[in-house]
Amino acid sequence: MSKIILTGDRPTGKLHVGHYVGSLKRRVELQNSGEFDEIYIMIADAQALTDNADNPEKVRQNIVEVALDYLSAGLDPNLSCLFIQSQIPELTELTFYYANLVTVARLQRNPTVKSEIQMRDFQASIPVGFFTYPISQAADITAFKATTVPVGEDQAPMLEQTREIVHKFNSVYGETLVEPNILLPENSACLRLPGIDGKAKMSKSLGNCIYLSDPEEEVRKKIMSMFTDPNHLKVSDPGQVEGNPVFIYLDAFCKDEYFAEFLQDYSCLQEMKDHYSRGGLGDVKVKKFLNAVIQSELSPIRERRHHWEKRIPEVYEILRNGSITAEKKAAQTLQDVKQAMKIDYFSDRALIEEQAERYRQ
Ligand code: TRP
Repeated sequence: MSKIILTGDRPTGKLHVGHYVGSLKRRVELQNSGEFDEIYIMIADAQALTDNADNPEKVRQNIVEVALDYLSAGLDPNLSCLFIQSQIPELTELTFYYANLVTVARLQRNPTVKSEIQMRDFQASIPVGFFTYPISQAADITAFKATTVPVGEDQAPMLEQTREIVHKFNSVYGETLVEPNILLPENSACLRLPGIDGKAKMSKSLGNCIYLSDPEEEVRKKIMSMFTDPNHLKVSDPGQVEGNPVFIYLDAFCKDEYFAEFLQDYSCLQEMKDHYSRGGLGDVKVKKFLNAVIQSELSPIRERRHHWEKRIPEVYEILRNGSITAEKKAAQTLQDVKQAMKIDYFSDRALIEEQAERYRQ
C-alpha cells in the first residue's frame, strides 16, 4: 500500500515556532526522507471559515502567509503538493455523506471542539459548520487516502473521529477508505510549546508567540523578555528547570553541537540544567544561548522567506497547481465512495440493464 501524508493548517495567522517544532519541521524531514509516495499539505481555509464566517478577509490575507511559512520551512513544491482546501469541492461532497455516519452526541464529545467552543464563547450560538468540522477533517484525510497524518497533540481527537468514520463507512458500504495513523512529535517539549510568557500554549490571541517570520532583532527581544523561574532572583539562587519555558524551548530546539558552537562551558543540555538547578547560572546567560540556538534554526528559514517574498505570483501559481493535482486525487476517491454508496447511477451499466430487464418481464 502507498504511504501517503496529508496534513494542514488553518490560515488564521502566521505560523510560529510552536507550529514549527510541533509539526512543520517533522513534515520537512518526512518529505526529505523519501519514504512517502505522496505528500499533501493543505491550507485549510474552509475550516478557518467555520469560525471566521464574518471575517473572510483575514482568511484570504493569511493564505499567502501560511504558504510563505511552508516554503520557508523547507517544504518543496516538487516533493509536496501544497494546495488550498476550498478549491477541492470533492471535500465538501464527502463531508455531506460522512455526516450520515456521525451522531450529534459523538461530535459533542470531541474534546478539542469542546474546548474551542469554550474559548470562543459560542455557548448556544455554535455555528453548525464549526460543530461539524471534525467530519470535514475526516473528508480531508480520507480523500487523499492518507496513511500518515503528522499533527500536534490537539488534533488527536480529530484523527480518532476520522478512524471511526472510516470504520463505519467500510463496514456499511464495503472496504473503500483507508484508516490513517496520527504521527505526533517524539520530543515531549515539542508537543505543546508554551508561550514566551510561560502560559500553557503559544497562541496568537495571547500575544505570546515567536513567529517564523519575525526579524532577528524581534526574536532576540522576545527571548530576552521571556518568563523564567520567578524565584530565581540572584544568579547564585538554585533555579527550577521543570516547567521553565526557557528550558522547555531548549529541550525543543537544542542539539549538543550548539554547545560546541556557542557555549563551550557545557557539552550538553543536561550539564547546563544541573548548573541552573544548583545555582550559579543566571537567566541572561541561558537566554543568550537560547537566542543563539533559535537564531540558528530560524536563519535558513528567514533566507528562504526572503527568496519567496520576492516571488509572490509564483507562490500563488504553486498553490494553483497543487490544487489541480489535489483535486484529481480527491475526485478518484469520491468516485470510489459514490460507487460504494450505490449512487453512481450513470456509470453502472449493469444497473441500467437490470432495471430495463425488470420492466421487460
Ligand atoms: N485542524 C487543523 C488545524 O487546526 C487543520 C486541518 C484541517 C487539518 N484539516 C486537516 C490537519 C486534516 C490535519 C489533517 O490547524
